[in-house]
Amino acid sequence: MSTGKKATVVGAGFYGSTTTQRLAEYDLFDTVVLTDIIEGRPEGLALDLNQSRPIEGFETTVVGATTGRSGDGYEVIEGSDVVVVTAGLPRKPGMSRMDLLEVNAKIVRQVAENVAKYAPNAVVVVVSNPLDEMTALAQQVTQFPRHRVLGQAGMLDTARFTSNVAQALAVPVSAVKTLTLGSHGDTMVPVPSRCTVNGAPLADLLPPDKVEDLVVRTRNGGAEVVALLKTGSAYYAPSAAAARMARAIAEDAGAVLPVCAWVDGEYGISGVYLGVEAEIGATGVRRVVENPLTEPELAALREAAEAVRAKQADVADL
Ligand code: LAC
Repeated sequence: MSTGKKATVVGAGFYGSTTTQRLAEYDLFDTVVLTDIIEGRPEGLALDLNQSRPIEGFETTVVGATTGRSGDGYEVIEGSDVVVVTAGLPRKPGMSRMDLLEVNAKIVRQVAENVAKYAPNAVVVVVSNPLDEMTALAQQVTQFPRHRVLGQAGMLDTARFTSNVAQALAVPVSAVKTLTLGSHGDTMVPVPSRCTVNGAPLADLLPPDKVEDLVVRTRNGGAEVVALLKTGSAYYAPSAAAARMARAIAEDAGAVLPVCAWVDGEYGISGVYLGVEAEIGATGVRRVVENPLTEPELAALREAAEAVRAKQADVADL
């Protein structure tokens, strides 16, 4: 049965290929396109994923396409409702996401130019790092309305916070609710005041120093995986988050999710891409959702905004 929906994932590394797998297995899209500049890799992964259909029981067709550096091959993304940009290099152990700024800016700029040209009506979900800066760059280059360009990070960081709390208290992850805002970097803002376990505030269950340990572990969640893997960075949890965002867009779900969105007045912050909660639908960000924060949390969010604002201004020249 045709759904009329089409998604594209740019970049066939682990993040891109697992995102493609998740999107295909939702059986929501007629087509999921996977592109890469490495000849044959997206086609090979697409063939493999298509052969998994009889076993997993989905009908989505995965189309793999090698794209040239000048943009040839990008016609295949035409008509995409949503484009997930995973292109770029991952961190190596000891690197900060910001160390990827220059190299990934060149890659994301090129991708964004082609997305603007071939999928001018798509909602763009950026996952390349440094996330907040690459999201801003993609918007600057595509010149899409800001609500149509957003970044994935808050869902991942929130999932890590939830997982860390569940593990620390030996409770199911389904019992835990958390929230992480701010940047996808050093100024990440895990929000303990929004953390509950079976409805009880986390502060009632753990002393402040233990809560702080969980906050710190969440902030270092990506680096913890990178240090263990030694090559490449996390992709299972990141792709789960990116795919859920793409799904909320394709289904016009109106789900409120933590994402990197353009903030224009909320929390007294303006003119910056930042991790906040937002209502996600077919147009991308329908609206940023502002919820109460404690004073220290609000101060940390504002600090994050200023840190990423400075860097986001720099990307225009990269
Ligand atoms: C992470 C990378 C993908 O946090 O940013 O794992």
